Formats: sequence, C-alpha cells, structure tokens
Amino acid sequence: MSRVSRPKGTGPRVVELFAGVGGFRLGMEPHGFRTVWANQWEPSTRKQHAFDCYVARFGESPSHVNEDLERVMDAAEAGRVEIPDHDVLVGGFPCQDYSVARTLNQALGLEGRKGVLWWQIHRLVTMKRPPFLFLENVDRLLKSPAGQRGRDFAVMLVTLANLGYEVEWRVVNAADYGFPQKRRRVYIVARLAGPEPRDAQEVLHRGTLGRALPVVDTQLGQLFESFVIDGDPAEVSESFGARRGESPFRNAGYMSHRRVWTVDLAPTWDGPRTTLGDILEPIEDVPEDYLVPDTQLGSWRYLKGAKREQRIHKGSGTPYEYVEGAIPFPDPVDGPSRTILTAEGGPTPSRFKHLVATGDGRYRRLTPRELERLNGFPDDWTDTGMPEGRRAFMMGNALVVGIVERIAAELAREIGDPA
Ligand SMILES: C[S@@+](CC[C@H](N)C(=O)[O-])C[C@H]1O[C@@H](n2cnc3c(N)ncnc32)[C@H](O)[C@@H]1O
Repeated sequence: MSRVSRPKGTGPRVVELFAGVGGFRLGMEPHGFRTVWANQWEPSTRKQHAFDCYVARFGESPSHVNEDLERVMDAAEAGRVEIPDHDVLVGGFPCQDYSVARTLNQALGLEGRKGVLWWQIHRLVTMKRPPFLFLENVDRLLKSPAGQRGRDFAVMLVTLANLGYEVEWRVVNAADYGFPQKRRRVYIVARLAGPEPRDAQEVLHRGTLGRALPVVDTQLGQLFESFVIDGDPAEVSESFGARRGESPFRNAGYMSHRRVWTVDLAPTWDGPRTTLGDILEPIEDVPEDYLVPDTQLGSWRYLKGAKREQRIHKGSGTPYEYVEGAIPFPDPVDGPSRTILTAEGGPTPSRFKHLVATGDGRYRRLTPRELERLNGFPDDWTDTGMPEGRRAFMMGNALVVGIVERIAAELAREIGDPA
C-alpha cells in the first residue's frame, strides 16, 4: 500500500476539513494522530464561532484556515496556498446533491454542482492522494436523493474508485455502543486500494470499522448484495437508482475496484452503557433560565404531543389533514437521549429539544455542558465566548467523539509507525 513518508517515531498526520469545534481532532489525538492543517468556515454567519472555539482549544498552530473550502482549493490549485502532505484526511461534510453534469469534453473532467462540498474534498484528494480518508455524514447519504435512491453515494464511490481508493462504510448509532445519545451517522473509511479487492466478508466483519465497532457474526447469505458500478460518474449520476425504488446500499458495505458488497449488520456490545440521567448536572448547578416557566408548559406539551388536525397549505390554500405521533414528554433519563439537533438551543418551546423532569414537578432544558457530555466533548468545550444557543448549535453539528476514537484506534494500528 502506498504511503506518504513521514519521520520515524512521529504520529500519522491529519488534515481536518469542516472542522467545526474539533470533534475529529479530539477523537484522533489520543491515538497519536497529529493535525497538521485544518479548515473551518461557517457560511451562514459573519461571526465564526466554531473556528474561534477550535483556535481557543487547540491554538493557531500549525495551521487552521477560516475560509470557504472552495476558495481554499482555488488558491491551492493556483499554488497560492500550501496544504501539507498527510496520512489521513478527515471530515464530517454536508449531505448535498452530488449529481454530475456530462461535460462536452470528457477530458475536462467532472462537473459537479457549484457549492457542493463533496467536489472540494474530491479536488483535495486528487491533489494530495492521502493514503486514508475518514469521513462522516448523515445516514441519509446512502439513500438520497428521493427520486433516484442511492445515486449520491454511488457518485461518491465511483469518483473515489477512479482515484484508486477502496471504501468501507457503516451506519452506526452511538447508543448501540454504550454512548448516552442515539446518534446515527455513516462512517466511511477509504484507502488507496491494492491490485485486487480484499475478501469482502472479512472486510465487512473485521475490517477497520468492524473491529472498531463489532457486529454480530451473521451468515451473510441472502442479505448480501453484490454489484458493479459504472466507471463513468456522469453515467452513474444519470442512471443509478433510476429503475429501483429503494437504495441498494445497506448499513454496511465495501467497495473495491468499483465492485460493491453490502449487507445489513447488527451491532454487538456488552460493555457499559451510559444513560441521559448519568450525564445530567445536579439541579443546583442548572441556571434558572433552563427551567420551563409554567406559562410555556402548554406549548411544549402541544408540540411534543400526538396530533391530527385540519390545516391549510400556505402556498396553495388547499386544506389537508396533518398527523404526527407523540414524542416522549419529558425525555426518559434511564436510557440514551434522542439525537441533538442544531436547533436544540434557546428557550422557545419545540418538539425536538430535550426536556427532562427536575424531580420536584418542574421541567427543564439541557444545559450546553450536558449537550457536550452527550457527544463526549469535555465540559465547557464550547464556552469560548459564543452565545448559549450557538453552543447547542455546535453540538447539533458535531459527532460522538468516542466513536471517532474507536475508529482512530484501529486506523492507528493499521497505519503504524514508519520503519
Ligand atoms: C457537520 S459540521 C462538522 C462538525 C465537526 N465534525 C465537529 O466536530 O464540530 C460541518 C462543518 O462544515 C462547515 N462548513 C460548511 N460549509 C463550509 C465551507 N464551504 N467551507 C468550509 N467549512 C464549511 C460548517 O460551518 C460546519 O462547522
């Protein structure tokens, strides 16, 4: 396997994209990885709270760039910015439309949609050829878009195959491995491929992801799907999933040399389990404004409750019946929490924000510190000058550090120390 050479006795080098408040870095550093360059830019706000937090926690050095990755890549390709060589490229990137337009002259290469960040990762991988990629995304990536299920992931796989990479993926719910939050994400590990695919069953069960996050040993048999993806990304973009109602990508898979093996695997875990109750702060430490005022309780109950009601569509004026089920009120504390979303912060009543009972007949929201604990960040990690609502937003965007840590441990073993 080809490797970028690095000095003996030094940990593997990481470039971190879409760094946010540094969840990948927190999970990788305990296993000897060194972040040599990072990029974070929030397009929707002038204030760059995530970047500021990352710098406050990790320092400026060696290099952390607060600029739209697309502009950074323009500058890198023009030779105005130097992105250092690295062993692993990591990042949690947005799930967007990855379709590819057919260029008149194929030699001009791919033409993905503007603003779609996968194509910036692709540019960086094309330029630097890191031996490993370690990426994270929402599990919807495997099934999107709605009209052509699985197309976006297929485009991603074929573009990686064309750059010489093979790919393992797994959808992981952090709560299945004892963490205190139900957070389901797809983790993707890619590496420069050898001359032939490896044994698919072995990779699926005991590859990097299978060793990090063990699965029940199944007879893959009938659940196992195997197919080949076309080598032309424009063709994949046009036709993949067009004739099939559901995505062929199951919750675990392996792609090598454009061949795909995929199967639904079940997690196994007999270690300790942490509950929402375990991470709660004592009520004496919870500021008053996290308690729900009596006057708001009705709104919270209504939003979280089951409903079947007549509504009028705002655009067309057409009446329709709106139906939704109840979600727990208050949130149970004897198991893992629901997923933190970016809108978790602020006192406005909401269906999806967490509310816990205080034990004396009142209800309260979760504090930023508790949200950090649910993702496994150190207490007050995001207490770096941003408003509390933004701290919650950061945790809605972030990942479960312990999952990264487990995968990083396996990657560190595989990459090893240079001879
Ligand atoms: C899913 S979050 C990743 C969070 C991160 N893993 C963490 O632990 O905090 C995606 C990040 O990409 C950043 N981002 C969005 N568009 C970007 C762009 N064009 N260039 C660079 N970063 C961008 C967002 O600000 C956000 O912090």
